[in-house]
Amino acid sequence: MRFVLVVLLTLCGCRCKEKALDVPAAPKVPRVTTTWAPHEVAAVPDDVYGVPAWSKVFALAFERKISIGVPSCHVEGGCLGIDPLQLRGAPMVSQEMILGRDEPLAFIGEQVSFLEAPDRRARLEQAITDAMTIDPATAPLAAVLFQNDLWERVDAITAAIRNEPGADWAVLEGLKKKLVALMRRVALTRAQLATIASNEGAVTRRYPELLAGFGERDGWAELVSQSTEHRGSTVWQRTTRHAERHGHRMVFRVFIHHAQGRAALSQALTRWPEPLPVGTRFVITGAPMALLTDGSIEPAPFITLLETRQARAEGFMPSQLGTLEHDVLEGSRAALTRMSSDSGGLERLDRAALLPVGATCMPDFTSRLPSASTCLACHGPTGARITGPMAHGETRFELTDDGALAGRAVAEAKRASESFQTLGW
Ligand code: HEC
Repeated sequence: MRFVLVVLLTLCGCRCKEKALDVPAAPKVPRVTTTWAPHEVAAVPDDVYGVPAWSKVFALAFERKISIGVPSCHVEGGCLGIDPLQLRGAPMVSQEMILGRDEPLAFIGEQVSFLEAPDRRARLEQAITDAMTIDPATAPLAAVLFQNDLWERVDAITAAIRNEPGADWAVLEGLKKKLVALMRRVALTRAQLATIASNEGAVTRRYPELLAGFGERDGWAELVSQSTEHRGSTVWQRTTRHAERHGHRMVFRVFIHHAQGRAALSQALTRWPEPLPVGTRFVITGAPMALLTDGSIEPAPFITLLETRQARAEGFMPSQLGTLEHDVLEGSRAALTRMSSDSGGLERLDRAALLPVGATCMPDFTSRLPSASTCLACHGPTGARITGPMAHGETRFELTDDGALAGRAVAEAKRASESFQTLGW
């Protein structure tokens, strides 16, 4: 496990708390370049948004076949009963998978050069033209998800043009223009965005064992952290590492709960990086940011992801993966766009479900591990310490009652970014 921890921290380029890493020299891990195998997108792909014309754009813009590494236990009867430390040494086997199905965007995005192939591009451009005919008012929630997916493609194209010497920038620029026009077409007005209901209450009611009181914020406090990238820096970053990794197209909010109440939590935070009291519950939620017709950037009123853990006593070491109290509630596009008021659209992942190494924080497309063990890599077996943004510099924490703070910080960071300047929004 420590190896995985070191790998992840090396990938993220952080040192976090040096004392947590008593390994003298962190192994250098080369970032593997993924190559994709030939893959034909179906003429009628899965309808992920409940709007077939948008779903076709989604499939054509993202789908590709790649080869990834998975632990051998996954193909030999399951990993849940495995000792997490043993899993670390388990051989990896390679498995083909299609990226670009209904998964979190962070797990499928980033690469764009496969879109340069003439056939693929022609089909995508035709699908974009067809999608332009749909009025977003007919499916506001789906429009938010779809626009956010398109936004990733646009930012990825911007990055490829800037960073990849082999990229066909003329072709990619042409595609980017069309994608931006479609983002604009599916943009909602502020009033339309406000008609979408929050799903937090429904999610709380559906998973009381994890989230009692969460929807009403009963006993739960929101935590914001600020950090400097380097020691001595005077510039304080106000967004999470997660939001940064998602190109500031998603907002992440952190919440904590302890039976002894907010004052006890405040006290414990002053002693960071000491662990929080046993039984503390931690939640991080993710919601897409939406670009509105009036030019503003606002968080969606619903969440698409919730990760949670519970602080265990110092020294806790699980003998089986399944006993780790790390859980993920994930909202697929299909479930969110068809959710009823009591389902909330989020499904609890099996602790053996495969997630990219680095999970939502820093996903690596090339290998996947059972959910609970990906969390273990960064949060340790007890999960008791508030993570903070894993910055190189200083970190400070504050409990806040301003539920819009995190969203505003992400919107400001996005607006100031180079990727946003080239969007012409
Ligand atoms: C690559 C490291 C990494 C992995 C893997 C990871 N996290 Fe985190 N997690 C973080 C960071 C960093 C934060 C702090 C928020 C931020 O700044 O992004 C965090 C925050 C959280 C929080 C909010 C409380 C806190 O400590 O700030 C929860 C709950 C959480 N993660 C759960 C999970 C779960 C469940 C998994 C596994 C599915 C997971 N994490 C995997 C790095 C990671």
